[in-house]
Amino acid sequence: MTKSSRHIVTAALPYANGPIHLGHMAGAYLPSDIYVRYNRLKKEDIIFISGSDEHGVAITIAALKEKTTPKAIVDNYHERNKKAFSKFGISFDIYSRTSNPIHHKTSQDFFLELYKKGILVEKNDKQLYCKNDKMFLSDRYVEGTCPKCKSEGAKGDQCENCGSWLNPLELILPKCKLCGNNPIIKSTKHYYFPLGKYQSELEKYAHSNKNWKSNVLNYCEGWFKEKLSDRAVTRDLTWGVKVPIDEEVGKVLYVWFEAVLGYISATKEFGELKNDSSLWKKYWQDPSTTYTAFIGKDNIVFHAIVFPAMLIAHGNYLLPKNIPANEFLNLEGGKFSKSRHNAIYVEDVIEKYSIDALRYTLTSILPENKDSDFYWKDFQARTNNELADIYGNFINRTTTFIQKNFNGIIPSIGKLSSSDIEFQTSMMKLPKKVGNHIEQFHFRDANNEIIDFVRIGNKYFNDSAPWKSISTDKEKCQNTLHLCLNAIKIIAVVFSPILPNSSAKIWKMIGNSTNIENENWENICNLKVEEGKKLNEIQIPFSKIEDEMIEKEIQNLEKQNTEVVNNTVELMAIKPTITLEEFQKIDLRVATVLSCEPIPKSKKLVKLEVSIGIEKRQVIAGIAQEVDPASIIGKQVVIIANLQPVTLMGLESQGMVLATSGSNDTFALLSLSKDVPAGLHIK
Ligand code: MF3
Ligand code: ZN
Repeated sequence: MTKSSRHIVTAALPYANGPIHLGHMAGAYLPSDIYVRYNRLKKEDIIFISGSDEHGVAITIAALKEKTTPKAIVDNYHERNKKAFSKFGISFDIYSRTSNPIHHKTSQDFFLELYKKGILVEKNDKQLYCKNDKMFLSDRYVEGTCPKCKSEGAKGDQCENCGSWLNPLELILPKCKLCGNNPIIKSTKHYYFPLGKYQSELEKYAHSNKNWKSNVLNYCEGWFKEKLSDRAVTRDLTWGVKVPIDEEVGKVLYVWFEAVLGYISATKEFGELKNDSSLWKKYWQDPSTTYTAFIGKDNIVFHAIVFPAMLIAHGNYLLPKNIPANEFLNLEGGKFSKSRHNAIYVEDVIEKYSIDALRYTLTSILPENKDSDFYWKDFQARTNNELADIYGNFINRTTTFIQKNFNGIIPSIGKLSSSDIEFQTSMMKLPKKVGNHIEQFHFRDANNEIIDFVRIGNKYFNDSAPWKSISTDKEKCQNTLHLCLNAIKIIAVVFSPILPNSSAKIWKMIGNSTNIENENWENICNLKVEEGKKLNEIQIPFSKIEDEMIEKEIQNLEKQNTEVVNNTVELMAIKPTITLEEFQKIDLRVATVLSCEPIPKSKKLVKLEVSIGIEKRQVIAGIAQEVDPASIIGKQVVIIANLQPVTLMGLESQGMVLATSGSNDTFALLSLSKDVPAGLHIK
C-alpha cells in the first residue's frame, strides 16, 4: 500500500448573490467533490474547503437591485447555497463565509504583512467621485459611453459590447449608477500589488507543473505575453474588509485580494471547530502537502497568477500544485446565465430528480476541455438508458436471480471457466484504471470506464446464460452469479465518488452492514462477496424519468426565455426618424464568412475574415458568447462596409456584423433567405 499523503482541495468561493446552478456544479464543485471522495477512499489526509464570497460590487449591486442591504443578500444566499451544496452531495469539510471575523482578521494581517515588507506600492489615483452620494465610484458604479466602440451603457471596468477592458476615467459622459448625476474627478490613495515584479517567478511556476491543463496554461501565456502590471488591491467602498491602516477610512480590500485568502481563513475556522488552532499550518505551510484549487475558467487569472504571486510575496505558503479549471456548461445550446431565464438552479431540482442521476449526467458532460451542453433530453436519456437500463439492470437481474434461485443466499464459487476468468480479470483492473483517470482530473473518462465495465458485466451475464445453466450446470451458474455480485460490489465502491447515494444503497442491498466510505480504494480489487451471506431487500436503484417531466422542463425554459424577450423589446423605444438619404449613407453588404476564431483573452470578441466579393475584410465582433466560431464559417451574414475602422484588442475591425442586440436565446445573426454572391449591396 502506498503511504498516504496530505492534501488540501479548495473550490472557488461562489458569490453569495444568487443561487447555485448546474453550471457552477459542472465548473468546479462536482469535479472537486469526486476528487476528494476518491482521495478519502484512498485514505489520504485530505480537507475540502469552500464558502461564500460575500464582498465586492457584485453583492452591493444585487442589494441595490433587490432594494435591500448587502448583509441581507449574503445571509440569504449563504444559507441557501450551503444547503444546495450539501443536498447535492458536495462534501465540503467546511463551507465558510468571508464575512466571518476570522476572515477579516486573516486578510487584514496578510495585507499588513505585505505593507510592512514594503511590497505594496502607494499611488494617488484620479477617480470618479459622486458629490451627491459622497463616494468614489469604482468599477460597476459608473456607466457611460465606451471610448472604443462608442456604445452606450459601458460599465466602468468593461464594455460588454466590444469586450474592451476599461478604466472608469476613460468613459465618455460617465454617470453615477446610484443617482444618475455626472461624477467629478477626485484624487484618492490606493495600494497596489506589483504583480509585474513576480512575472518571471510566475512563469517558472506555471511551467514547473507538467500536468496543468492546456486551457489553464494557454490562458496564463496570454497574460504573460501582455506583461503583468501593478494591480490596485484597495477600493473606495464601505462594504468589505476594512483596510487595516488607521488613516485609511472608507477603504476596503479589493474583493479578489481578500476572497482568495478566504481559503486560508476557512481552513483556520475548520481547525478551530476541531479544537486545533494550528491545524491550518499543516495544510498551508508544510511542503509535503499538495494543494489543488478547483475553479471555473473565468477565475483562472486570479488563481494561477494573482493568488500565487500574493503567496510568494508574503512567503511561507504553499502554492496550488494544480488548478484544474473547467470551461463553461451551456444549457440547451445557450449560455447558463444567472438572470433567472436560462439556468437550472440546484435548489429547484434537488427535490424533483435523483441527485445521482444529475451527478452522473453532469460527470458525463463535464466541460473539461471545451464548453459543453446540458440538454434536458440528454439528462433523461442518460438516466433511463444508461443508469437504469445498463447499471440498474445489471444489479437487478443479478440480485433477483439470486433471490429467486438461491433464496437470496450468495452462491459459492467453484472452478472458473476461461470466460469467468476473463471477466474477473477485467473487474480487478477497473479500480486502478478509474483511479488513474481521477488523478489526472479526467472525470469523464473515469465515468465512461465504469459504465463500460458495467456493459461488460451485462454481456458476461448474457453470454453465461445462467437461466440455462441453472438446470444444466449448477457450478457454472453459481460462478456467474457470484462473479456478477462481486462485480457489483466493486462497481459500487468505484462509482461512489460520482454516485455517493446510490452506491451506499447498493452496498447495503447486497448484504454489507459496514459503511461503504470505510472501504480502502487500494484494496477494492480484492473485495470479495461472502458466500452463504444473505442479500438484503432488493430495491430498484434508479428510476426512469417520464417524458412529461422533461417536456415540462423544456417548456418552462422556453417560457422564461419569452418573458425575457418581451421585457427586452418593451424597453427599447423607437429611435428618432431619419431620412432615406441618411439611411442610404450606410453601405450594407452580403459577406461570406471565410474564417472565425476566438480572440485569446477576450470573452466576447471573435476575429472574422469575410469576403465582400471585391475584397476581404477583417471584422472583430462581440459574438463569442453567443455563437460557436466554427459554426458560422461558410455562412453568409450582413455587414456594414463603410463604418470607420476601429481597433479592438489591438486588431483592426473593418466593418460591423449585424445581429440582434439580445444575448443567449434572443441573439441572432442577420442572415439571408438563400445564398447569393458575396458583396451584393443591400438596400
Ligand atoms: N466569487 C467568485 C466567482 O464566483 C470566485 C471567487 S474564488 C476566490 O466568480 F477564491 F476568490 F474566492
Ligand atoms: Zn451618484
